[in-house]
Amino acid sequence: MKISVIGAGNVGATCAEYCAHHELAEEVILLDIKEGFAEGKALDLWQTAPINNYDSRLKGSTNDYSATANSDVVVITSGLPRKPGMSRDDLIATNAGIVKSVTENAIKHSPNAIFIIVSNPLDVMTYCAFLTAKVDSRRVFGMAGILDTARYKAFLATELECSPKDIQAVLMGGHGDTMVPLPRYTTVSGIPVTELIDADKLDAIIERTKVGGGEIVKLLGTSAWYAPGAAAAQMVEAIVRNQKRIFPCCVWLQGEYGIKDLYLGVPVKLGKNGIEEIIELDLNDDEKALLAESEKAVREVKDVLDGMDLF
Ligand code: NAI
Ligand code: 2OP
Repeated sequence: MKISVIGAGNVGATCAEYCAHHELAEEVILLDIKEGFAEGKALDLWQTAPINNYDSRLKGSTNDYSATANSDVVVITSGLPRKPGMSRDDLIATNAGIVKSVTENAIKHSPNAIFIIVSNPLDVMTYCAFLTAKVDSRRVFGMAGILDTARYKAFLATELECSPKDIQAVLMGGHGDTMVPLPRYTTVSGIPVTELIDADKLDAIIERTKVGGGEIVKLLGTSAWYAPGAAAAQMVEAIVRNQKRIFPCCVWLQGEYGIKDLYLGVPVKLGKNGIEEIIELDLNDDEKALLAESEKAVREVKDVLDGMDLF
């Protein structure tokens, strides 16, 4: 197995570290446009191998895509992160150009790879990669739902003073403030969360989850990376180990949930072929209304990309 991570910044390096540490592939390649940056990160990470006891080889490359040739999975994290006061959508003009050129280069060298997109604005950058790669949509999808669900679960574990391992939850919609956490599908070791927490407290956690990325941007002056990097790597793991895990991922919808021609977050089964199944939940009217609001928000950003005449 070979995994390439494009963009050796905060999220990319964290993702590569997880992939190597968990021995998800024989080779993990980091590539960045900044001279020497990916090589430096890869060398530093490789020097953790004797400490952390793994065999995966880490290599870095400055914009030479031949180093990524024949990758099984390509993770795209290249692009600008959010700064305080910016929404994810503010990044579209710059990041669309970056995601397009990176995808073009990566697919040329790895025509059979599965692509996981992380760059923001996530749903529309995934669409941008799909338009560029021109491959089956089951091989191009985005990471957001695992991160957003992890934030929701972490806040619940803090509030309930319980192990985060025991919390199961689903979250849908776009990677933005209109995301849709689903309390009806949230349990703690099988117990409906609504039996363990007051409605007011649960609502507050849902609202905090929706702006969870922004909370970290305000604290750090840039966006999060530990949880995003781990979330992307967990998707890589599900693919390379053919785990058939069920995660919320940003996928191309063709009528599922009544939504067509849009990349949006929904629960899927993830395995060696990429998206192996899109799972359609039986949403109630309130949940459908929230999903429709999220769809509208993502379509507005998609319209911006469509208007940029990149394709
Ligand atoms: P960062 O600034 O630390 O790293 C980005 C890297 O991309 C930089 O090293 C930069 O040199 C590189 N890069 C820029 N243009 C490139 C090109 N054409 N080819 C190769 N490399 C290039 O940023 P960070 O924090 O790692 O975030 C990366 C992206 O991920 C951002 O767009 C951010 O908004 C997004 N993000 C998405 C999340 C999600 O849930 N989907 C969560 C966190 C971040
Ligand atoms: C996050 O949610 C900014 O998308 C990034 O942390």
